[in-house]
Amino acid sequence: MAQILDGKKLREKILEGLKLKLDKFPQKPTLVVILAGDNPASKIYVNNKKKTAERLGINSQIINYPENVTETELLTKIKELNADKLITAILVQLPLPKHISKENVINAISPDKDVDGFTPYNFGKLFSGVEPIVYPCTPKGIMLLLDEYNIELEGKHAVVIGRSNIVGRPMAQMLLNRNATVTVCHSHTKNLADITKTADIVVSAAGKNVIEGKMLKPDCVVVDVGIFKDENGKTRGDADFESVSQIASYISPVPGGVGPMTITSLMLNTVELFEKNL
Ligand code: GUN
Repeated sequence: MAQILDGKKLREKILEGLKLKLDKFPQKPTLVVILAGDNPASKIYVNNKKKTAERLGINSQIINYPENVTETELLTKIKELNADKLITAILVQLPLPKHISKENVINAISPDKDVDGFTPYNFGKLFSGVEPIVYPCTPKGIMLLLDEYNIELEGKHAVVIGRSNIVGRPMAQMLLNRNATVTVCHSHTKNLADITKTADIVVSAAGKNVIEGKMLKPDCVVVDVGIFKDENGKTRGDADFESVSQIASYISPVPGGVGPMTITSLMLNTVELFEKNL
């Protein structure tokens, strides 16, 4: 039976340490989250970010825009936030409304306030194998979780399912930078099971149920980034927990695995940016 990669437990441990550190700061970081439109999942994520920031004494502000906000309005606001010395971290919640260029908006964020590590400056550094100012939150959280359980990466075959800029691509780079042998699979991949069967570590960010126990090598490690509701309304991940936990040595549950670690990384990044810009 697989051991659980417990994201909630690690979140509590890291946030406790971070709170002690923040309590000693005479001034606190300020995180601004821009939310455009009314994607229900984004609203929940953004409110959780604000709640967690408040718990630590980090100032946070959500700026809500309607679905029909213009790109110019967002760019103008970001410029203003870049110039404001009191604002230390900026996050633009994705996805953005379809008529807005995500590239233009992310590009406008000053790299030293880019708390997601998504700007071309930070992404470019990561993809060159050089330390960015901060690492993207979800893959950073996954690395913290793997390290907490002493899971070896060097020389291991890591299979990443998904190639989004939020998870798959930066995850693959971070694993590569730790000397794993990395395969990236995606919606056009043929014979996924043939590839996952050779994996020591599977990070799945497909957003649909793609992983079953029979597709895996015994004692592999499964990190499940997917989160969605099944036909009965139950929250689940990409992995079929029951069959996968019979084969794998470790599995991250959904909920309670990667999700708490993403928010933890956002808080760590907010503090890192603040300290680097003092
Ligand atoms: N939407 C889903 N995950 C993320 C994330 O990590 N950062 C941002 N900005 N938007 C997201």
